Amino acid sequence: METIRRTKVVDLLKRRDFGAMVNVKGWVRTRRGSKQVNFIALNDGSTINNVQIVVDLANFSDELVKLVTTGACLSVNGELVESLGSGQACEIQAREIEVLGTCDNTYPLQKKGHTMEFLREIAHLRPRTNTFGAVFRIRHNMAIAIHRFFHEHGFFYFHTPLITASDCEGAGQMFQVTTLNLYDLKKDENGSIIYDDDFFGKQASLTVSGQLEGELAATALGAIYTFGPTFRAENSNTPRHLAEFWMVEPEVAFADLHDLMDLEEEFIKYCVQWALDNCRDDLEFLNKMVDKGLIERLQKVVETEFVRLPYTEGIKILEDAIAGGHKFEFPVYWGCDLASEHERYLVEQHFQKPVIMTDYPKEIKAFYMKQNADGKTVQGTDVLFPQIGEIIGGSVREENYDKLMTRITELNIPMKDMWWYLDTRKYGTCPHAGFGLGFERLLLFVTGMANIRDVIPFPRTPHNADF
Ligand code: 4AD
Ligand code: MG
Repeated sequence: METIRRTKVVDLLKRRDFGAMVNVKGWVRTRRGSKQVNFIALNDGSTINNVQIVVDLANFSDELVKLVTTGACLSVNGELVESLGSGQACEIQAREIEVLGTCDNTYPLQKKGHTMEFLREIAHLRPRTNTFGAVFRIRHNMAIAIHRFFHEHGFFYFHTPLITASDCEGAGQMFQVTTLNLYDLKKDENGSIIYDDDFFGKQASLTVSGQLEGELAATALGAIYTFGPTFRAENSNTPRHLAEFWMVEPEVAFADLHDLMDLEEEFIKYCVQWALDNCRDDLEFLNKMVDKGLIERLQKVVETEFVRLPYTEGIKILEDAIAGGHKFEFPVYWGCDLASEHERYLVEQHFQKPVIMTDYPKEIKAFYMKQNADGKTVQGTDVLFPQIGEIIGGSVREENYDKLMTRITELNIPMKDMWWYLDTRKYGTCPHAGFGLGFERLLLFVTGMANIRDVIPFPRTPHNADF
């Protein structure tokens, strides 16, 4: 076969230099046709669109054509020609075909219309479907958007550790990291495990958040963000929870509650606009096949001003709804942790806009949130989104040493793990604020996919760590 420099399908489909000899490589999506001529739809993952290969059967052996099955990998040399059929401007008139990899009829992606559940069982192959190709190209684009946003706004990308000894959220949902022999654990006279011989010489876990280390960096570099995997051993089998998910966590010195809310809103809008500007083909596909309201919803979020709503007012709205006959499964009262049905009522029915809820009761929020003068509430913010519920959790941080210490003591947080965090409040403390955005929750919103397991390549959930 003649050596011709490969063109990616995404670039090829833009070319108009008809008559040129080109090479494409990719996987067969379909082959159809008559006794004289076959049409191969070839996809190489660079775009949702396939290139059509026209095969004049008189020029190719039966043995070769027989190997051109769904899923097979081909290299094709041919002439770029204007396409007469509708859909695409150009196609390839095949001159030479090499089968790089055959694919027999046990290939599970023969037909269209598999369920998402089935595709999860073949997560090693599902990126080859149109839907997952689109989702993972958008996932890449959202990561790029995040880095661009922060870079353009003067934030530094700061890498926080994945292995840690502190539980940022204090929720006790950490996966332990150990090299101890679990069949032969040494214990002291109280029955507690002795960690002296463990790898780190103490109990260590996978991080639930990079925030605490991010705060250290913000008090030095001014504005930072961390973007990496986080781990939570919460036994939540819901369409919105993963045991391993990616979180984006900016932290900004000298920011107050209003700066924080402005940043949250501007950041999300930037990411959504990026998708609209850079992922058009994939969004149009998802809009057609997965969620008919998708593009309109994305457009709307970019144009809408988010509602800013103190928790106490939110509770009043929910109580009024109940008084008016609305039924919720879980009770509503001042002090309750809102359930997703409550959040969705506010966002989808009452306001029909994203809501940034603020000033939560301190009892339902983490120790690090800045305490308000009322003694009851803290300056936490949750950004609540249609369909998703909570997409961001953040707060102004308690920068006052004594107040922070009092809270740490009240909550019985082990002091010996916290000394370095408290040091920032001793040495030139400053007001600062930050948030965490669940990357996969953002992707749920941007792709219109219904289950968080379908926006990460290899989901980790309770009883599932395959692939
Ligand atoms: O609200 P969370 O727990 O906040 C924090 O971890 C803070 N330390 C962030 C900060 O202020 N720097 O988590 C932040 C976000 C949530 O709003 C949600 O979008 C996502 O992370 N999230 C999850 N996403 C998928 N699966 C899970 N189990 C998640 N838990 C939280
Ligand atoms: Mg939260």
